[in-house]
Amino acid sequence: MSHEAFPTDNPAVVTVGLPYANGDLHVGHLRGYVTGDTVARALRRVGQQTAFVCGSDMHGTPIAVNAAEAGVSPEAFAMEYHEEYAETFPKFNVEFDNYGHTHDETNVETTREFVRSWIDDDHVFEKEIQVAYDPDADQWLPDRLVEGTCPYCGEHARGDECDEGCQRHLEPGEVEDPVSTLTGNSAEYRERDHKFLRLSNFQDYLQDFIDRVEGTDNAKNQPREWIEGELQDLCITRDMDWGIDYPGEGEEELVLYVWVDAPIEYVSSTKQYTERVGKAEYDWEDVWKVEDESELTGADNGEIVHVIGRDIIQHHAVFWPAMLRGAGYNEPRAILATGFVGIDGKALSTSRNRAVWADEYLDEGFHPDLFRYYMIDGSGMETDVDFSWDRFAERVNGELVGNLGNFAYRSLLFAHRNYDGTPDVAVSDDVRDRIEESIEAFEAALNDYRIRDVGAAAVELADFGNEYIQRNEPWKLTDDDPEQAAQVIRDCVQLAKACAVLMQPVMPEKAAELWTQLGEDGSVHETALDDALATPPAEFGEPGELFAKIEDERIDELNEKLQERVEEATEDDEADGDTAAFEPEALADERIGFEDFGALDMRVGRIEVAEPIEGADDLARLEVDIGVETRQVVAGIKQLHDLDELPGERCILLANMEQAELFGVESDGMILAAGDEADLLTTHDDAPLGSKVQ
Ligand code: 2FM
Ligand code: ZN
Repeated sequence: MSHEAFPTDNPAVVTVGLPYANGDLHVGHLRGYVTGDTVARALRRVGQQTAFVCGSDMHGTPIAVNAAEAGVSPEAFAMEYHEEYAETFPKFNVEFDNYGHTHDETNVETTREFVRSWIDDDHVFEKEIQVAYDPDADQWLPDRLVEGTCPYCGEHARGDECDEGCQRHLEPGEVEDPVSTLTGNSAEYRERDHKFLRLSNFQDYLQDFIDRVEGTDNAKNQPREWIEGELQDLCITRDMDWGIDYPGEGEEELVLYVWVDAPIEYVSSTKQYTERVGKAEYDWEDVWKVEDESELTGADNGEIVHVIGRDIIQHHAVFWPAMLRGAGYNEPRAILATGFVGIDGKALSTSRNRAVWADEYLDEGFHPDLFRYYMIDGSGMETDVDFSWDRFAERVNGELVGNLGNFAYRSLLFAHRNYDGTPDVAVSDDVRDRIEESIEAFEAALNDYRIRDVGAAAVELADFGNEYIQRNEPWKLTDDDPEQAAQVIRDCVQLAKACAVLMQPVMPEKAAELWTQLGEDGSVHETALDDALATPPAEFGEPGELFAKIEDERIDELNEKLQERVEEATEDDEADGDTAAFEPEALADERIGFEDFGALDMRVGRIEVAEPIEGADDLARLEVDIGVETRQVVAGIKQLHDLDELPGERCILLANMEQAELFGVESDGMILAAGDEADLLTTHDDAPLGSKVQ
């Protein structure tokens, strides 16, 4: 770790990637916001002064196009979604200290100040470039108005992003075989002058920065290939009306690229927070301003933590630090990049309505904290999470109802009925030590950005509590050994209190409910971790159940609803002639004989171990039992599967694949998978492990 451990004496700011104000929120969006909120709350629990800020991303071509289609101004269009988001986040207990938007006055001013500062310091230059143009529409085609082929990987690209392949940011003029999304006609490239931020000025700085920055492995490693190669300068202007005007005389027709003013909203939103609470409580400049590069590594800088989706790592780990440095600002301390969310094992698709929408989840009557728990505790932050109602119910019923809720309820009920509250004895040394261990595990996990383990601390402690109460059977001791009975229950009440403190970042409302049941004064949201060890109140009332079981019929109903909707949307798309969802590759021309096929030694196997390979964005290390032996293989499935779910799954392994070494890990075989989502091949009966596929 290159920075002082949390908590430091400096203020921190936690941000989450801004949502485009362009459509309803679904569970895929919510993952990032729930993660950011958990990080901010966890930092506060360890005593770190923390502001949690965000805002809506109001600019860019998709908003301008959708607004035109809706027949309203882009501002009115985006404002409507902005307001919807500002109302939705708190319903998921995502509580920003400030939620602004990129079109507000603070951000317009701050953005223009940034750009002026780059101009003054000679970081901006003008260059004639090729920009896509639609002659039929007589219009320039910035960003999403043009699509074609990615020059780096050959996959489909949309304007400024390779959306189906390498996901690189693309500069104007880079998309090959350009087609206008306005008319569907081929676009042509025409010459045009634009402004550029000279990223090459920051190459050395960025190389040092990437060695210092903390966070998830994907965010720390993926940018190296961009930073170590020749840095391409960033075009910061676009030919559009909707956006923030470029602050230069005679340049009125240019607006700033949406990726200029969007991250600057992190700063603007923090400024607005300071304006509201006053500098004495939180001074945005202490976090964001660092004039001199030599001070960047000093101990007095604020702690900037960005939570983002993994598709925007390049923007946050390359462009953004350069933008900050060019204007005399501090740098991110950590970048945490989450994986995506799938639905029922498939990619989430808003066009096909294969999504669980934020409102829909709440309308079904589920508590927001259950969703938060599912998202945070299910798998590591970098891994993709699959949202399925079956799995949701399984985890709620098992881990929350059966473990955490059950432990808190039985402990508090026993305590209330037999002692009116907390028995009047000291907590045992063993239980105190166990709680201290959980506190340390929480702190260590937070400092390593293992947010899943932050969330797991309370559930693991409840697991210990259930085992403890079961082992000691206080209900058998009340008559024969009342002192021991009181001791056991005293310990359990303390454990329940510790659970409330530790679960607060992930399940804030449920933590507050437990806190109230314990008869505690004040708010669990103001507690420090050590409060987990303070004596609980001598008296409290009869507790209620914290969580309710989700019945099977309910889940069947939800599955059916989702299924029907997806089918309807797919039929509608097909009726509209939209079959873009999947285009199989053409069949191979060349035929092979039995001999060639027989040369492939494919065996039925079972995955025993699946773990991410550090430093590799897509690769996982698997151990596969193929009956005769266990093989280690490296597979490009890290982002496509929840690795925790794989052990136990049957698969097909090509056993005589040439051996290889990837990221220092030997690969002795290849598991077979279909399609872009790496759907793993398996068997449908119980052919013994090692059976040959023929
Ligand atoms: O990719 C997106 O959804 C962008 N709206 C994220 C912006 S994050 C930030 F840098 F502003
Ligand atoms: Zn690409």
